Amino acid sequence: MLTNKKITLYVSGSIAVYKSLSLLRLLIKKGNQVTVVMTKAATEFVTPLTFMTLSKQTVYTDEFKVESASDVNHIKIADETDLAIVAPATADLIAKMANGIADDIASSALLATTAPIYVVPTMNTHMLENPATKRNIRTLREDGIQLMDSATGFLAEGYEGKGRMPEPVDIVSWLEVMELSVTKQLQGKKIIVTAGGTKERIDPVRYLSNDSSGKMGYAIARVAQRAGAEVILMTGKTSLSRPTGMKIIDIESAAELFNAVKDAFTDADGLIMAAAVADFRPLTTAKQKIKKNDDNDLMNISLTKNPDIVAEIGKIKRSNQFVVGFAAETNDLLENATKKMLKKHLDLIVANDVANINIGFNSDDNQVTFIFKNGQQIQTPIESKLAIATELINVIGEQII
Ligand code: PMT
Repeated sequence: MLTNKKITLYVSGSIAVYKSLSLLRLLIKKGNQVTVVMTKAATEFVTPLTFMTLSKQTVYTDEFKVESASDVNHIKIADETDLAIVAPATADLIAKMANGIADDIASSALLATTAPIYVVPTMNTHMLENPATKRNIRTLREDGIQLMDSATGFLAEGYEGKGRMPEPVDIVSWLEVMELSVTKQLQGKKIIVTAGGTKERIDPVRYLSNDSSGKMGYAIARVAQRAGAEVILMTGKTSLSRPTGMKIIDIESAAELFNAVKDAFTDADGLIMAAAVADFRPLTTAKQKIKKNDDNDLMNISLTKNPDIVAEIGKIKRSNQFVVGFAAETNDLLENATKKMLKKHLDLIVANDVANINIGFNSDDNQVTFIFKNGQQIQTPIESKLAIATELINVIGEQII
């Protein structure tokens, strides 16, 4: 996990250096010691003093500014690194890394680093698309260095494009997944993951929904991807940052989700239903906003049942496909979850107590019990949804597929 580590944060000369201050704070908040190494160009944007004030560690900007005669800065930095992050990573620094150039403190220390190195390419779109940069990025990947997809959006040059440095919170999420001890047990598998809550429209401005934030489903999608799966994420509206490198299908209602799952399941290896799907929808959806009736304080809405998506898929799944469901219960958790697993023909059900506000809906943590068809049960402790997702993917890899 991304904690209790000696992290070296390399920052190079991009306007995005200001974001690295937030990244530094997030990494420290998670319980890491962070040493910052700046290229000369980076110091043109933010001073070393700013990083030193936040990190409370020496900030290295020059190979030849040593604190003692025995110090060889670039080796000292490299040997004391558990994990290196280069963010922002300019085209220049990427080029130096790809070609073994060591002509300043950053490139020298990186060349001497044997710990995992994570790079966040940050530059103008045209520079990112340049064949030379693409070649250098390919080289780094071949060298076992992990690179994060650049974000797409408004660039400092005043136009939209790919090449923006992702938000610090997204970089930390990505690092946490990359640091997971997950084997490639889902390599070559195509897996559908559903997340978030459905919206069942009453009229153009009103709907029925629930408190699902999507955090559980998004964590599962990221870990499944890390385990080698080709992931299709089907998601209700959330405020979460969207994972990269996977197909994402936005849905609103249970009916839309049902159609999307049916279409994709034909050639999928499995389905993990973490979404909070409404059991009912309004019998009719008004085309215009329903007006209040001043003569009557009561408003009645007739509801009708939605399709039980996971149960319908459970009926048609082939023997070489799997279906995992969740059970959101407020009482008799294990009994109700077991009934659902049998009724919906699931291979595994993940039971969580949504009456406990410290876990379940919208919480960063969860506690679940895996219940298998053969009656076996495995309960997790209360832990992060990323940890739960990792255990779920491991269980699927070891016992379901
Ligand atoms: O999104 P978060 O804020 O992180 O919260 C996570 C979660 C609590 C939503 C998640 O852990 C969870 O429990 N998801 C399932 C919620 C739910 O709908 O549970 P249920 O017991 O009502 O449904 C049982 C299973 O049937 C679920 O897999 C559900 O996706 C599925 N279902 C339900 C209704 C329906 N019409 N079709 C379905 O497929």
